Amino acid sequence: MKNIAVIGSGTMGNGIAHVFAQSGYKVSLIDISQVALDKAIATIGKNLDRLISKEKITEENKTATLNNIATFTSIQDGLKNADLVVEAATENVDLKLKIFKDLDTACPSHTVLATNTSSISITKIAAVTSRPDKVIGMHFMNPVPIMKLIEVIRGYNTTDEVTAQIMELSKKLGKVPVEVNDYPGFVANRILMPMINEAIYSLYEGVAGVEEIDTVMKLGMAHPMGPLQLADFIGLDVCLSILHVLYDGFGNPKYAPCPLLVNMVTAGHKGVKSGNGFYSWGHGTKDLIVSEQFKK
Ligand SMILES: NC(=O)c1ccc[n+]([C@@H]2O[C@H](COP(=O)([O-])OP(=O)(O)OC[C@H]3O[C@@H](n4cnc5c(N)ncnc54)[C@H](O)[C@@H]3O)[C@@H](O)[C@H]2O)c1
Repeated sequence: MKNIAVIGSGTMGNGIAHVFAQSGYKVSLIDISQVALDKAIATIGKNLDRLISKEKITEENKTATLNNIATFTSIQDGLKNADLVVEAATENVDLKLKIFKDLDTACPSHTVLATNTSSISITKIAAVTSRPDKVIGMHFMNPVPIMKLIEVIRGYNTTDEVTAQIMELSKKLGKVPVEVNDYPGFVANRILMPMINEAIYSLYEGVAGVEEIDTVMKLGMAHPMGPLQLADFIGLDVCLSILHVLYDGFGNPKYAPCPLLVNMVTAGHKGVKSGNGFYSWGHGTKDLIVSEQFKK
């Protein structure tokens, strides 16, 4: 695999384009928004500058990496010669199904189609294409250039050969791939989201306050950040939507989202992105200040 197309140049797409380009692959970065593409290239440049200042790469590496990325606002132009497409567009089922139908029509028959979805069934996405054997999940973690893990998710029809290809490719990016099967939440979110939900239930039931819950998990379990802070970073709307996927997918009440989480999302308190969640983020993300609603 030499030519990679990345669909979507937001938070994840720019990181995915960065790691492929830095490893020497030719990348077509595709987004419907020119503004998003410009922002992505600027972010990649800044992240490469940081690596130069840490003496991890040279100025020449930066130039070579940026030269490996071409941007496109049309899927058709960006997909010529793609050996692999990694889709990292907005998390919305109907949008992803439409994109995969278009990809299936536009891509050569050998092209493997991967999705970075956090929660949508790989098997469902694969089913709208004529090549479900070549559709797979490549679940990168945020921030992509730093996080080592790629959860590689086999759909119901994904072949051993395609899975092996993607595992091998992930290692060439300097990542550690872990193969999992396609069930709701895969592994990462199936375990993480119930933990976050339980932390929110502990707050809701008055077992402890925001800082206390996060401190127990940080100092007691050696987690780098507490579950409530992590939920704010992920986005409370995203957490809620993944809990719905688990709840609907398994039909098990243990995944029912905490009513406090539902209320917060409904009220527009979505965490860092809205400036307010369990913590207040109006001043930036360096200091942890508990939101007014949860101050004792
Ligand atoms: N943000 C995270 O922490 C994270 C972690 C793992 C996986 N994911 C998954 O990665 C995917 C992308 O998430 P994100 O956080 O980068 O989203 P984002 O909102 O930052 O970026 C999405 C981008 O997709 C573009 N887009 C929308 N429709 C498109 C189309 N038809 N064609 C091309 N581009 C299109 C948008 O313009 C936007 O730039 C989602 O599936 C999400 O579940 C996110």
